[in-house]
Amino acid sequence: MCGIVGYIGGREAAPFLVEGLRRLEYRGYDSAGAAFLVGGRVVINKATGRVSALAGALLGAGHGARTGIGHTRWATHGRPSDRNAHPHPDCQGRIAVVHNGIVENYRELKEELAAAGHRFASETDTEVLAHLVESQRNGDGLAQAVRRALRRVEGTFALAVLSADDPEVLIAARHGSPLIVGEGEGERLLASDIPALLPFTRDQLVLDDGEVAILTRDGVEVSRLLDGARTVRHAARVEWDLATAEKGGEPHFMRKEILEQPRALRDTLCGRVGLDGLPRLEELALGAGEARALEHVELIACGTSWHAGLVATRHLAELARLRASAEVASEYRYRPALPLGAEGGGKALVVAVSQSGETADTLAAMRAAAAGGARPVAVVNVVGSSIAREAEGVLYTRAGPEISVASTKAFSTQVATLFLLAAHLGRLRGTLSESGARELLAALGRVPDQLEAMLPEVAAQARALAPRLLDKRGALYLGRGYGFPLALEGALKLKEITYLHADGYPAGEMKHGPIALVGPQTLVVVVAPQDRLHAKTLSNLEEVKARDGFVVAIGTEGDRELARLADAVFWLPPAPEPLNPLLAAAPLQLLAYELSVALGRDVDQPRNLAKSVTVE
Ligand code: F6R
Repeated sequence: MCGIVGYIGGREAAPFLVEGLRRLEYRGYDSAGAAFLVGGRVVINKATGRVSALAGALLGAGHGARTGIGHTRWATHGRPSDRNAHPHPDCQGRIAVVHNGIVENYRELKEELAAAGHRFASETDTEVLAHLVESQRNGDGLAQAVRRALRRVEGTFALAVLSADDPEVLIAARHGSPLIVGEGEGERLLASDIPALLPFTRDQLVLDDGEVAILTRDGVEVSRLLDGARTVRHAARVEWDLATAEKGGEPHFMRKEILEQPRALRDTLCGRVGLDGLPRLEELALGAGEARALEHVELIACGTSWHAGLVATRHLAELARLRASAEVASEYRYRPALPLGAEGGGKALVVAVSQSGETADTLAAMRAAAAGGARPVAVVNVVGSSIAREAEGVLYTRAGPEISVASTKAFSTQVATLFLLAAHLGRLRGTLSESGARELLAALGRVPDQLEAMLPEVAAQARALAPRLLDKRGALYLGRGYGFPLALEGALKLKEITYLHADGYPAGEMKHGPIALVGPQTLVVVVAPQDRLHAKTLSNLEEVKARDGFVVAIGTEGDRELARLADAVFWLPPAPEPLNPLLAAAPLQLLAYELSVALGRDVDQPRNLAKSVTVE
C-alpha cells in the first residue's frame, strides 16, 4: 500500500504535494519523494523516512515548479531505501512515475527491457513502468505511450506519470488501486483518497478501474485503457466536512473500519502470496533450518490482539505442526523466566502481536522474552512503533490507521498475517504440502471478495436485530475450535462499546457453569460455521434453546439445522475451516456496533478506554 499525489496548474506544486503526502502517510511511510518539471527538466528528490523529514528538501527541489507528482511508500518489492523510493525515472531522466500497486509480471518485462538496453537503478517493480513507457513512445504523446505500456502490465496500479517532453499534461491511470482527480480554478490535482484533496478542492472525480486520465491545467479527459474510447465523466461535489470525509461518509469510525476490511485484507496479502501461489514472507529472515528446529511458538499480546494470537495457535498447530500458546502480555512479563531461543535450548519463536505497537505490557513481555534468549518478531500495524523497532523482524498488518477504540480491521488483518506466517512455517518445515498451501492461499485470496459480498446484508441484518436485543441483561458467546477465540472477541466487542456484561466460553464448557446464566434475558451468540465440531456445537445450542435463551448464530449458508435452532442467523459463505475466523469476525463486530448505536453509547470512544495503552 502506498499513497500518490499529483499537481498541474498555475500555483507551485510542491506545497500541495507535501501536504497531500502528509495526509496519505497512513498508506505507508518508509520512504517518500516527488518529481517536478523545472526548466524543461525532471527533478527528483526522494529518500527513506517520513514525509515530515523530507518536506524541506521537497519544497526546495520543487521551487518554481507548476507540475509535480509525489509518493509515500510502503515497501512491497524491494526493501525501503533511497534507491527504491519513488518517483522512478526512465533511462534518459525525461519521464518520472509514481505507482501504488504491484506489477506482477515485472520480472519478464524487466528482462525484456534489459535485453533492449535499459539499465535499472532499483529493485522495484515500479521502475519497470517508467522504462516501459519510454520504450512505447514511438514519437507519440505521453498518454498514448502510457496506454500502450499499461496494456502489457499484469497486476494492480494507480499511477501518475509526467514527462519533460510533454510539460502540458500529467497522466493518471487506475486498475485496482484508488485514484481521485480534484478540479480547481486553473489546476488539476491527484490523490489516493478523497480526504487528501479536500483542503484544496471539493470537486472530485473518482477514477474507475481501467480508466486513464489526461490532466491539464484546464481540464481532465478520461478514457478507457483498453480501447482508448473517451468516457464522459464529471467531477462531483464532495459535501462532507473533513471529519466526515475521514470517516468515509460513515457515522462512526468503527463502522467505516468494519466495512473497509476487504480493502485492508487485500493490502495485508499484497505481495505476500507469490505468483506460484505459495506464501512469500521475505520480511522475515527465517531460514528452513531455523524453522525446522522450532519446538513451539509463543504469542504475546493484549485484548483483541491476544484473541488474534489465540486463532493463530490453531493455525500454527494445523499448518506447521507447532505447539503454540497465546499468552496475555501482562501475565507473560511476570511469569517465572524460562530459557527461550536457541541458546536456552528452548527453541521457541516469540511473536508479539499489537495494533498500535505501543502497548506497554506487550512491549515489556517482548523485552522479557528477549532477555530470556528469544529473538522476538512482531506483527504490528503502526510502522515505526516501539514494538516494531525493538523486534528482530516485523510483519506489518497494513490495516491502515484504526481510529475507533474498538479494534476491528486490526483483528482481521492480524489473523490474516499470522495465517500467512503459519503457512510460511508449514512450508519451511515441510508440514504443509505445496498443493495444500496453494489451495489454502487461493481460498484466502477469495476472502476479501466474499466479505465484500456479504457485508451489506450482514450490516442491514445487524441494524434490524439490535432493537430486539435492548431488553437483554448480558450475553454469552460460545464457540469451539476456531470459533472459541471468536467468541472471546465477540464478547469483548460487545462489552467495551455497549457496557453490557458479556462472556466468551468454549461451547463445551457451558455445562460447567455458564449455563446457569441462560434465560430469556440472556443473549447467546454462537459461532457455528460448518467445521469438524459443528454437530457438537449444535447440541450445545439445543441445551440453550431448552432454557429459552435468545440465540443469534453465525453459520455457513445452507445450514438448515442451525436456522431451526437460532432466533437469527448471520450467514457466511463456505470457506476452509481455518479461514472461517476472517469471515465470522464482521458479523460479531456489526452486532456490537448496532447495539451500541441503539443504546446511544459513544461508539468510537467508549468510556474508560484509550486506543493505545502505553501504561501498565
Ligand atoms: C479492543 C481493543 C483492545 C486492544 C488492546 C491491545 O477492541 O482494541 O483490547 O486490542 O489494548 O492493543 P494493541 O493491539 O495496540 O497492542
